[in-house]
Amino acid sequence: MSYLTLSHLEKSFGPARVVKDFNLTVDQGEFISLLGPSGCGKTTVLRMVAGFELPTAGGITIEGRDVTRLKPNQRNIGMVFQAYALFPNLTVAQNVGFGLKVQGAPKASIKPRVAEMLSLIGLSDLGNRYPFQLSGGQQQRVALARALAPKPSVLLLDEPLSALDAKVRVSLRNEIRQIQRELGITTIFVTHDQEEALSMSDRVVVMHEGIADQVGTPFDIYNRPATRFVAGFVGTLNTLEAKVLDAAAGKVTLGGTEITLPAPLPAGPTVTLGLRPEAIRLSAATGPQLRATIKDVDFLGSVIRLRADLAGQPIAFDTFNTTRVAPPKVGETVALGLDTADLLVIGA
Ligand SMILES: Nc1ncnc2c1ncn2[C@@H]1O[C@H](COP(=O)(O)OP(=O)(O)OP(=O)(O)O)[C@@H](O)[C@H]1O
Ligand SMILES: [Mg+2]
Repeated sequence: MSYLTLSHLEKSFGPARVVKDFNLTVDQGEFISLLGPSGCGKTTVLRMVAGFELPTAGGITIEGRDVTRLKPNQRNIGMVFQAYALFPNLTVAQNVGFGLKVQGAPKASIKPRVAEMLSLIGLSDLGNRYPFQLSGGQQQRVALARALAPKPSVLLLDEPLSALDAKVRVSLRNEIRQIQRELGITTIFVTHDQEEALSMSDRVVVMHEGIADQVGTPFDIYNRPATRFVAGFVGTLNTLEAKVLDAAAGKVTLGGTEITLPAPLPAGPTVTLGLRPEAIRLSAATGPQLRATIKDVDFLGSVIRLRADLAGQPIAFDTFNTTRVAPPKVGETVALGLDTADLLVIGA
């Protein structure tokens, strides 16, 4: 049985439906990301799970218990917000122990738990500091420790890394994931950063205008996007128009090259195909070849990013830098190899 269930969740603010028929089941210990652009309803979903927002329709269960109408403090949920929400007048240790104190835990049990949490986040020496004496990354670690101290059944993280600089973000996201695994705590993480979502999650929910467009593993979301929106939002994608020769047989021409796709294709004279940059190979021996003219060569060290023109359509791809092969030059015409299985049919 699933640990956390959101069924047919809806939320309207006045006439605006900001969450629409949202369904999700989460297993115990799973790490789920809600990924989507600003305003798509991620925070609203999280706030409904936390109990800060009452759904307009639908329900939420945790461990089989209906919590839809329970107050936040009756749900046993830990939450970390985007902005550092530490109490400025309390020390680090007092912040971490705050939830336990509110719960009425005996003093003698709070101290060791706080020490345990501070050790978990690697800040054992900083218990007596105040939040203003900490870096942003340290403050978010304290916020995480504070959320975890009362042993919540579900941990909710709303863009906890977005105020941090790039390097700290990456190290802290690894740390959060490691702690989450160690504790085996069921977690929902909100982000609009696809790299964060793909690298951290067991499964990703890609949200778009209040709807869960696709729920799947990072591998599935990236390699088998279910909608045009997911295909465009997650990762870099070349979108190419192909002329349909025979829809029933899957025959098209792309940049003058005839290709047979898994049939059938949507009706229409043309079809839009998606192709990831890394699915394109320079001078491959097998499979269809596209003739393209190099427009731009961007030397990035380990990879070389190339932009080319495919019969009037821009196409971007990467090639690894090896000392044995000189990269193509601007103006050169090259053969691009691909596997037809890598072509995503994303609409007529
Ligand atoms: N209390 C509220 N009253 C009215 N509208 C609201 C309220 N809270 C959120 N909204 C609207 O609901 C929509 C979804 O908001 P939400 O905060 O869930 O988006 P989000 O995906 O978290 O975006 P971001 O990435 O910018 O944080 C937005 O259009 C927002 O303006
Ligand atoms: Mg938000």
